[in-house]
Amino acid sequence: MHAIYEYQEFFSSYLKKQTILKEPKNLYEPIAYIVGLGGKRMRPVLTLMAAEVFNADYEKALPAAMAVEVFHNFSLVHDDIMDDAPLRRGNPTVHEKWNINTGILSGDAMLILAYQFFEQYEPVIFRDLAKLFSKTALEVCEGQQWDVDFETRDDVTIPEYLKMIEYKTAVLVAAAMKMGAIVAETSEENANLIYEFGLNLGLAFQLQDDYLDAFGNPETFGKQVGGDIIENKKTYLYLKAIAFSEKTQADELRKLFAIQPEDNSNKIESAKKIFNDSGASAATQQAIKEYTFKAFETLDKMNIEDDKKEVLRVFGQNLMGRNV
Ligand code: IPE
Ligand code: IPE
Ligand code: MG
Ligand code: MG
Ligand code: MG
Repeated sequence: MHAIYEYQEFFSSYLKKQTILKEPKNLYEPIAYIVGLGGKRMRPVLTLMAAEVFNADYEKALPAAMAVEVFHNFSLVHDDIMDDAPLRRGNPTVHEKWNINTGILSGDAMLILAYQFFEQYEPVIFRDLAKLFSKTALEVCEGQQWDVDFETRDDVTIPEYLKMIEYKTAVLVAAAMKMGAIVAETSEENANLIYEFGLNLGLAFQLQDDYLDAFGNPETFGKQVGGDIIENKKTYLYLKAIAFSEKTQADELRKLFAIQPEDNSNKIESAKKIFNDSGASAATQQAIKEYTFKAFETLDKMNIEDDKKEVLRVFGQNLMGRNV
């Protein structure tokens, strides 16, 4: 196994070797732009790590890691259109810098490019990767649709929310890891356990994404702080605040999350105050810990060396400490 930062470097240098820029420029430039903006590269690192956890060389997993990261970036380009988001990774989003049509088509092209990276694998591995990928990509679409549907509902439940984040976010984290397992040709049981680990890590990850969207530092967060509040997203923070509040306060919050004012600063401040005062912020922090520990429990069931479990555990711990 290597250190986490080494996997990041392996992935970065592989990415640099890819030629993305071609004609027509207006199709490929936005792709090079968004992929080049970086980000944490969490999913490709997990693919490389998983391959080595199951005794394959990380190099064999590089094309699969690329596929996952390009797909992730595709989903961000379309997500930013859907969420009307101005900022991504500290820079203008693709549809802000170009326009919505460019975001749609460059995004479509990225989805196809992602698939093409699987062509580098032999038939059996190719089939398993493509199958997992198709299933995952469709689930991400389902999760994204729920996310949007929930914006205009005021009766979303916690189980509905959990299903939504499982689909829009956690399944891709899980699949990123299972792809490493597939490339390594490990047992079905190992592949399923690493998927389960990734799924719980992914749930914790999205809960924290929701938390940071409200409480992140605007200087370093890289996205518009309060974006979820502006868009009336029914996050864990919101749902717990409703559950923990007296009727009058809950009604006030429901009302707040049904309007779209010209100036959002008051709405954001009021919502954040209710999230904190109601105990919703603390409950979200607690849930992040619980899902991370649930992921660690899966590690205990896995038939791999202790030092490998330790690397995965450190990765999960680091994620909990993140502020972007
Ligand atoms: C953002 O993902 C979208 C979510 C699923 C929350 P990341 O937080 O991994 O974004 P980058 O790639 O690091 O920018
Ligand atoms: C994004 O969820 C999930 C996908 C991109 C599929 P969010 O909408 O919360 O992600 P951010 O916060 O914009 O990165
Ligand atoms: Mg978004
Ligand atoms: Mg979204
Ligand atoms: Mg978010």
